[in-house]
Amino acid sequence: MAPPTLAASAGSSSPSLTELIFPALPYLHPLLPFASDEDGIHEQLLRADVESGNHDPPTAAGAKFRINNLTKFSDSASGGGVPILRGVEMEIPRSQIIGIIGPSGSGKSTLLRSLNRLWEPPRGTVFLDGRDITEIDVVSLRRKVGMLFQLPALFQGTVADNVRYGPKLRGENLSEKQVRELLSMADLDPSFYGKKGSELSVGQAQRVALARTLANEPDVLLLDEPTSALDPISTQNVEDVLVKLKNDQGMTVVMVSHSIKQIQRVADLVFLLVDGEIVEVLRPDELAQAKHPMALRFLQLSS
Ligand SMILES: Nc1ncnc2c1ncn2[C@@H]1O[C@H](COP(=O)(O)OP(=O)(O)OP(=O)(O)O)[C@@H](O)[C@H]1O
Ligand SMILES: [Mg+2]
Repeated sequence: MAPPTLAASAGSSSPSLTELIFPALPYLHPLLPFASDEDGIHEQLLRADVESGNHDPPTAAGAKFRINNLTKFSDSASGGGVPILRGVEMEIPRSQIIGIIGPSGSGKSTLLRSLNRLWEPPRGTVFLDGRDITEIDVVSLRRKVGMLFQLPALFQGTVADNVRYGPKLRGENLSEKQVRELLSMADLDPSFYGKKGSELSVGQAQRVALARTLANEPDVLLLDEPTSALDPISTQNVEDVLVKLKNDQGMTVVMVSHSIKQIQRVADLVFLLVDGEIVEVLRPDELAQAKHPMALRFLQLSS
């Protein structure tokens, strides 16, 4: 199979945002562990590059994720490094939209990455459907727990090629009808089917990336500031899709966002992360009642 490459803006005089930020990214084998957290594009490639794996039957009741005393130290400093996550305890209910907010550097992305082993959590700390995720085959875990990043990274080829990518790796060839349905599900007009990835705006590309992730039939979506590069209309479209996925398919969505307003629009429950610790768990309409001084200050300055 030819390695995926980033879509180039053929014929365009100025480089796309993606090209500016991720020039000449080399192909990475999907199953190679990453030596470092360079940027989301590596993980984006990894996310889409999945193969079939075991499918564990979901448990009917209980939390979707249970996080017990999750601690992470940076590996950059010698002697154990600096704490990034400090004993995080969380219960993420299934079929809900969970917002994670907090100051920059508080550990939000690190926490999100621990949920599909982009960062490997210690054994006994992260459970999906009651099962320790370190015991789940990593490829099937990432198929089940899809991830979208701030900037979409499409592979070279058409929108349809991108959407078909994951299923193709497991020997499944999506029909044109199935691809069009996935595009509709991601709030993209099915007429985008044959367009080149390089012809799309960032907002359209983000929705193709969403369709490509949905093609893997995940039951959890991890979203790391997925709309921060989008205009208000695209943002609203993506938010609508998330709510629809939750309502129609029972999707569990865990979304990091810097936009308090966005969290208030879509989330069912909000976790406030400050300095690697969950300091408050509130409903979106209760955010003003936060008590932790840093959380309160963050909320006041953000709103
Ligand atoms: N691989 C790494 N090595 C060392 N330190 C790291 C590494 N990854 C993250 N950190 C540090 O961990 C802390 C939390 O980072 P993280 O990216 O999770 O924060 P964040 O809440 O997502 O921030 P932002 O809102 O800016 O995206 C930061 O201080 C960051 O510098
Ligand atoms: Mg982050």
